[in-house]
Amino acid sequence: MRVLVVGAGGLIGRALLRAATKAGVEAVGLTRDQCDVTDVTAMGQALDEYLPDATIFCAAFTNVDGAAGDTRSRAVNVEAPVAWARVTPTWFLSSNFVFGGSGPHAPEGAPSPGSVYARQKVEAEGGVLAAGGHLVRVGWVFGPGGKTFASTVAGRLRQGERVRAIYDVVVQPTHCDDVASALLELPRGITHLAGAGQTSWYGFACAVRARLASGSVEPARMGELGLGPRPRDARLSPATLPPWWERLPG
Ligand SMILES: NC(=O)c1ccc[n+]([C@@H]2O[C@H](COP(=O)([O-])OP(=O)(O)OC[C@H]3O[C@@H](n4cnc5c(N)ncnc54)[C@H](OP(=O)(O)O)[C@@H]3O)[C@@H](O)[C@H]2O)c1
Repeated sequence: MRVLVVGAGGLIGRALLRAATKAGVEAVGLTRDQCDVTDVTAMGQALDEYLPDATIFCAAFTNVDGAAGDTRSRAVNVEAPVAWARVTPTWFLSSNFVFGGSGPHAPEGAPSPGSVYARQKVEAEGGVLAAGGHLVRVGWVFGPGGKTFASTVAGRLRQGERVRAIYDVVVQPTHCDDVASALLELPRGITHLAGAGQTSWYGFACAVRARLASGSVEPARMGELGLGPRPRDARLSPATLPPWWERLPG
């Protein structure tokens, strides 16, 4: 079994390559510089060269608020995963943000996207499934090797800074290494990979602060931080991965 990881320079892509080494799975990772997933020629070359049994598609335009105003976002978030799924067995990383309303949301639940980024994910999901590919939805992933809420908060608290964190959303922070190990099992159909614990970003930040004994945390409402539309409760079920408090940075 040979696994190809595209978008391998990101948080989950890097975790996948670590997990593959640990599990003895043969994996090849291609970063954006090595393979731009929107380039059909580069796609063909990668598939001809590595002949993967499975491609895990981690490439994405992940700036949730920026996707609306950037004409490149649709190519990478929608057109590319569908194109790959049409020519090779593909596992597409999607997002809990495809859901609206109250969670937890089951894999077969109806999407209700509230932003351009989320609508792109829903469109890509439909195209990937129609092409015979598989979906893996994740949310609030944290861990080494990426710029996430957790790493930003931990970095600022370590500097002794005051951090404002949202308390009026419910989140399931999930460690990238746990996501990666489960992803390498190549689950078929639609799968949710989520940590078993829930909190708010404020709760998460307070726990990191307690561990670091440095900095301070102040609660904020989502509307106060100038973010674009986000679901308030996009919890995924089943939540089978270890809870965030077993994976805290610090
Ligand atoms: N992390 C989360 O909390 C979370 C939550 C929900 C869903 N997801 C989904 O999980 C997947 C992986 O997320 P992540 O956290 O690993 O994101 P990430 O750290 O932002 O990584 C995304 C990677 O995609 C690469 N990329 C962008 N455009 C590309 C292109 N045209 N060709 C090839 N590579 C390209 C980026 O390269 P550059 O570094 O060069 O830009 C980056 O390395 C994404 O589909 C994301 O939507 C993640």
